[in-house]
Amino acid sequence: MPFVNIKKQYLAFGMLVFVVLFLFNSRPAIQCQFTPEVSTYVPTIYGITPTYARLAQKADLTRLSQTLMLVKNFHWIVIEDSETKTSLVENLLKESTLKYTHLNVKTHKSKHSTVMDVNICVFKTETITTSWYCASGVEQRNVALNWLRGHLKDSDDKRGAVYFMDDDNTYSLKVFDEMRKIKKVGVWPVGIVGGMRVEMPLVTDGKVSGFNAVWKPFRPFPIDMAGFAINATLFLLHPEAKFSRKVQSGFQESEILKYVATKDDLEPLAENCTKVYVWHTRTQKPSILNPKKLKHPPLPDDHIEV
Ligand SMILES: *[C@@H]1O[C@H](CO)[C@@H](O)[C@H](O)[C@H]1NC(C)=O
Ligand SMILES: *[C@@H]1O[C@H](CO)[C@@H](O)[C@H](O)[C@H]1NC(C)=O
Repeated sequence: MPFVNIKKQYLAFGMLVFVVLFLFNSRPAIQCQFTPEVSTYVPTIYGITPTYARLAQKADLTRLSQTLMLVKNFHWIVIEDSETKTSLVENLLKESTLKYTHLNVKTHKSKHSTVMDVNICVFKTETITTSWYCASGVEQRNVALNWLRGHLKDSDDKRGAVYFMDDDNTYSLKVFDEMRKIKKVGVWPVGIVGGMRVEMPLVTDGKVSGFNAVWKPFRPFPIDMAGFAINATLFLLHPEAKFSRKVQSGFQESEILKYVATKDDLEPLAENCTKVYVWHTRTQKPSILNPKKLKHPPLPDDHIEV
């Protein structure tokens, strides 16, 4: 059929024109693709978060995970203080769009560690000076650091920042922008902590010259866990760096920092430590009525995950 032949010729001609146009057009397009890759590089942030089962756990983790979903190039390492991984945490991580690693390790019980709640524990030690071995989160953070070392060894990109995050703190997205500037260890103020409105490094001429902490100011680094992040490569260079149960509460930060930095290495971020981008908030322990003691008990709700 001649009609079909004509159509094929048109088609062939059309394709030829398209190809020629494409070739001519593609030249300037190719010339434009010289944007240096360096400028678009965003170091990974490894957030290390120990967590333990309690009534407000899912609420706290939901709030935190949904903040973290807004952070670019973020890898969340969540370590449960439990014998096995729970489905609550597993499902929460799966349902988030986050890149994550889910680990678990049960805190060893020593006769000193009766309170598992790290927050209650730390604050009790303000008056009880004998409660050593109190801090939990030690084994969990160490397991995370070991995982991170293995991960970085196998990975082409060994760069990144490591941030130790409580599951109930409040984080501005700005704090993550700050920690991507880190060369060794970056520090910044933390709001509502240590009995103060703000605990912060003091900065003179762009260098850390001291700290304003009033709670145990004799600590080598009187700084909260939320107030610093460490260059990930340093954990490969210092394989011995870890947290210890043998230190007094409030000294965990100093314990880990002593392996990787001196005071002179600290880089003041958040506009020379004049801005608060993280708050050491704590979720109040909820009080729930005992249904057995109620005259008119409510319907059972055990089948609902809260
Ligand atoms: C961390 O330190 C290493 C080695 O000194 C360096 O190559 C890297 O650029 C630093 N920064 C980050 C974000 O990893
Ligand atoms: C921090 O302070 C130093 C020294 O005063 C100054 O040169 C630098 O620009 C300041 N940085 C910021 C981000 O404000």
